[in-house]
Amino acid sequence: MHRERIRHPGLQSKVTTALEASRHIRDGMTVGMSGFTRAGEAKAVPLALAARAKEEPLKITLITGASLGNDLDKTLAEAHVLARRLPFQSDPALRKLINEGEVMFVDQHLSETVELLRTRQIGPVDVAVVEAVAITENGGIVPTTSVGNSASFAILADKVIVEINLQQPDALEGLHDIYIPKRRPYREPIPVVTPESRVGIPYIDIPPEKIVAIVVTEKLDSSSTILPPDDETRAIASHLSDFLLNEVKQGRLTNTLQPLQAGIGSIANAVLHGFIETPFHDLTMYSEVLQDSTFDLFDAGKLNFASGSSITLSKECYHRVLPRLNDYKSRLILRPQEVSNHPEIIRRLGIIAINTALEVDIYGNINSTHVSGTHMMNGIGGSGDFARNAYLSVFVTKSIAKNGVISSVVPFASHVDHTEHDVDIIVTETGLADLRGLAPRERARVIIDNCAHASYRDALNDYYDRAARRGGQTPHVIEEALSWHARLREKGSMLP
Ligand code: COA
Repeated sequence: MHRERIRHPGLQSKVTTALEASRHIRDGMTVGMSGFTRAGEAKAVPLALAARAKEEPLKITLITGASLGNDLDKTLAEAHVLARRLPFQSDPALRKLINEGEVMFVDQHLSETVELLRTRQIGPVDVAVVEAVAITENGGIVPTTSVGNSASFAILADKVIVEINLQQPDALEGLHDIYIPKRRPYREPIPVVTPESRVGIPYIDIPPEKIVAIVVTEKLDSSSTILPPDDETRAIASHLSDFLLNEVKQGRLTNTLQPLQAGIGSIANAVLHGFIETPFHDLTMYSEVLQDSTFDLFDAGKLNFASGSSITLSKECYHRVLPRLNDYKSRLILRPQEVSNHPEIIRRLGIIAINTALEVDIYGNINSTHVSGTHMMNGIGGSGDFARNAYLSVFVTKSIAKNGVISSVVPFASHVDHTEHDVDIIVTETGLADLRGLAPRERARVIIDNCAHASYRDALNDYYDRAARRGGQTPHVIEEALSWHARLREKGSMLP
């Protein structure tokens, strides 16, 4: 069956084992692999690398689109193959090595990685490893459930290894829209003017002689780890839809809203899922990851079109959607992440961006990445690409974490991924803070009153009152600003 999927006759002879293919990768190299939020990653060559690392010195810089599925980041971390890793991950074992200082993790805006590679500010990529559903007659690579950075990896690398995955449905062919920006000074505007715009070609165009090996695989993508909506996430969704309904009433939006982006994770997925219960209709998405909620909205007749860079689904949704992909195909596009997340397009389309915070401070600065200011969780991902350039930049979080010993609203964010200047709306299950047009002193009251958990509200008001008496545009009791995090570290709780 793999012969039908390798349509370029000259490439049939390149089929080999994962181990043999992996020998193109040597100690010290930089490898660009497909894979974006657990979708469409190369599945066999990374395992061969992990096996080889037991027998020989082998450390690489691994660049992907985003996180890998099938526990590959875990396997590679535990085999100590990774010297450097960028631009995103979400695996506990790798996270541990990053936080211990073994793996150098470069946490990047997802739209920027290939631009840095293309201009040789980082890299070069020695070998690209890309999962594909097929190789076309002219040697074009047809990606699977994600595009991520795969196209640029294949274009920029000296050698390309293709993994043909026979379990990925043929129907994926035609879904992708591969557009590569021209080099400067010949760069032109990216002509995406609606989420539906097709501006590229449906495969990765490289000279076929660059394909040095083809490996045939049959492993499925792993399911997403998102949790179903709970009372808190339902309340967050309800506050946000009430706010958007009021925007419609005020004449600033219509019931079709603006194209939606929703970040990774359970909370953002639940919020989007909540739109099923609203009067909004004929919605569109211009996002990076398409989760279960995208297909729930399609099935509820609420969503007209979704553009993303990957499809990452729960087990139930995967088995519901993938066999019926042809039913959704005319309403879907998968793009390179530099296009799905491009600031120019996000600003042009006027996106409503919904991303998740770990913590927010009383002025609206957002920490999405660092637990207690020091320990990496996953990475900034695309949240910065969208938040900075959105029509409405929304951050959602539960007001408390870890059974209440952590307040997600703190006096001072212990790490800042998104500054107050990039944040319009904060929503927790307790309420919504509309920060548009507010100065820091006004923001503090609105955030504390609407978003803080009752068990922390008095302490936050007390902090703000004492800070305000000291003065300043953004008042702080500076020696106390991180004392909540210090208390958590020393006593196991932020509670006063
Ligand atoms: N301090 C410490 N831990 C915290 C915390 C805080 N202030 N707030 C939440 N957490 C913990 C939760 O307890 C949970 O821990 P667990 O995994 O041990 O259960 C974990 O963080 C995830 O939080 P959860 O509430 O389940 O939210 P989520 O699954 O929606 O993930 C982020 C939230 C922030 C980790 C996730 O959205 C992320 O990585 N964002 C950054 C990247 C991004 O936004 N990309 C967007 C474009 S795709």
